[in-house]
Amino acid sequence: MIGTPVRHSLSPAIFNAAFRALDLDWVYLAFEVPEGQAPTAVHGARALGLAGLSVTMPHKGAVIAALDSLSADASALGAVNCIAAGANGLRGLNTDGPGLIDALRVENDVDPSGRRCVVLGAGGAGRSVARALGRAGAAEVVVINRTAAKAEVAAALAGPVGRVGDAAAVATADVIVNATSIGMVGATGGTPIDAAGLRAGQVVVDLVYHPATTPLLIEAANRGATPVNGLGMLIHQAGHAFAAWTGLDAPIAAMRTGALDALAERALGS
Ligand code: ATR
Repeated sequence: MIGTPVRHSLSPAIFNAAFRALDLDWVYLAFEVPEGQAPTAVHGARALGLAGLSVTMPHKGAVIAALDSLSADASALGAVNCIAAGANGLRGLNTDGPGLIDALRVENDVDPSGRRCVVLGAGGAGRSVARALGRAGAAEVVVINRTAAKAEVAAALAGPVGRVGDAAAVATADVIVNATSIGMVGATGGTPIDAAGLRAGQVVVDLVYHPATTPLLIEAANRGATPVNGLGMLIHQAGHAFAAWTGLDAPIAAMRTGALDALAERALGS
């Protein structure tokens, strides 16, 4: 994995748990790579013959110049979170969106197909979520964002069902995904929308997984909505990366245990 900061990433715990579960002689390591050094790091990985890399902030766009090909998702988003080495060189993928859809379907028994969806936020995470919901067959994908121009870009990525909206869309939504940084440790407190509009029957996803619950998820639960944190998406996007690298089905249960163990250790340490 390359990024900065990566010291507190759960990814090594998740992937190494997967390798152990399948008795694979693989190892996953996190490398602090300063901004501006991503292409050099990718060339190094190529020279070393690594099977793949995870890519995180701030390198998701910068690695593209050093790759041989991109998946449709990575190309549309202009962002790569996973690089897989193959016969045709290094291929850039983006598994964030598919990770969210899998988490909803597998962990929460919610299929976005035919659902009215609201995406709060239009940064890298918001864009990948908007595209994934559009591709998963959502009836509509309404993007709400502080900066309107970025909302337009994210809504367009959802295809014909995408549009920019405002808080009024929350009342009629089936699935609401918070992809803003509001609610994260160290970020602004509070909720990204007025939680008074939330109700039973809605699924409210916050991409944050640390802390495990956020003001938005607490408000959602208090109003009878189903709260979902970002751990499922984190694990399922890793599952897609694992499959791309190894050609094997990801041992999702072991990966989840690896993540939860690491989070528990962290809680004990703090
Ligand atoms: P990521 O790659 O994780 O999506 P990002 O690109 O920095 O991170 O995006 C952060 C998102 O949170 C953006 O949608 C941002 O809104 P802007 O596009 O207007 O910047 C949103 N965000 C962050 N802090 C916010 C705040 N205090 N109020 C409203 N939106 C906020």
